[in-house]
Amino acid sequence: MEARPSRLTAKTILVTGAGRGIGRAIANSLAAEGADLILSGRNLDRLHQTADAISEAGARAHVFQADIGEEDQVLDLFRHIQSRFPRLDVLVNNAGIGEYGPLAEFPTDAFDRIMRVNLRGTFLCCREAMRLMLPQKAGNIINISSVVGFKGYPNQSAYAASKHAIMGLTKALAVEAQPHGIRVSAVLPGGVDTDLVAESRPDLDRACLIAPEDIAETVLFLLTLSDRAAVDQIFIRRTNSTPFP
Ligand SMILES: NC(=O)c1ccc[n+]([C@@H]2O[C@H](COP(=O)([O-])OP(=O)(O)OC[C@H]3O[C@@H](n4cnc5c(N)ncnc54)[C@H](OP(=O)(O)O)[C@@H]3O)[C@@H](O)[C@H]2O)c1
Repeated sequence: MEARPSRLTAKTILVTGAGRGIGRAIANSLAAEGADLILSGRNLDRLHQTADAISEAGARAHVFQADIGEEDQVLDLFRHIQSRFPRLDVLVNNAGIGEYGPLAEFPTDAFDRIMRVNLRGTFLCCREAMRLMLPQKAGNIINISSVVGFKGYPNQSAYAASKHAIMGLTKALAVEAQPHGIRVSAVLPGGVDTDLVAESRPDLDRACLIAPEDIAETVLFLLTLSDRAAVDQIFIRRTNSTPFP
């Protein structure tokens, strides 16, 4: 049997928050399909661990440290991309944080921290990616939202608000970008086995959580559709949760 050709060869893909969790799994999976990965995040050691694993598997990965909540750092990241790569094919806005607690006791600075990363960071990366993708007349932006971008859970009001806001941003940008050949979609997972969920849902049995690799497969699916098909949003839930939430 002939080997299947790599499906993302010669694609340049930026993944934010690629040092661990879902972002690392997405980076590994896309690199295995031949893409050139740009791995971004704050923690350089973890980014280099992801990059080393990708290189050992025979693919290419470049590391760039950036806090997506800081405009200067996002501008530096995209200037770096523009200077080193002929184009940017895909942005996966994965980086995100959560802080949890009853709303009546929730500190304002925790609310601001969440919004700074999840909403402002996603906005900044979308804007800079659009500036590169518009002249190309092609591109894909995938925003990792959450099941709480659709529904609510107790003690997650600020996190849920940030993920609902990402949905608003994604919907408007998808309409705006489509005439320019740019597809924008959202992935809405619930309960993935990472550090973030260990903190937000300590009640969940880890054995029942979705694997980060499942989210990576979903992103790969979105990126390997034909140019004639667009998927706006995908919900991915634990098989022991309620269908059609
Ligand atoms: N786990 C779940 O059940 C679940 C469900 C739905 C949605 N999500 C979403 O999936 C995404 C990934 O989450 P995860 O579960 O993989 O969490 P995680 O293991 O905590 O990873 C979060 C990632 O975001 C990066 N990050 C955080 N703040 C950043 C900042 N200011 N600038 C740049 N990078 C930053 C972190 O890298 P550094 O620390 O190196 O900066 C890390 O790589 C998040 O958007 C999260 O909301 C997760």
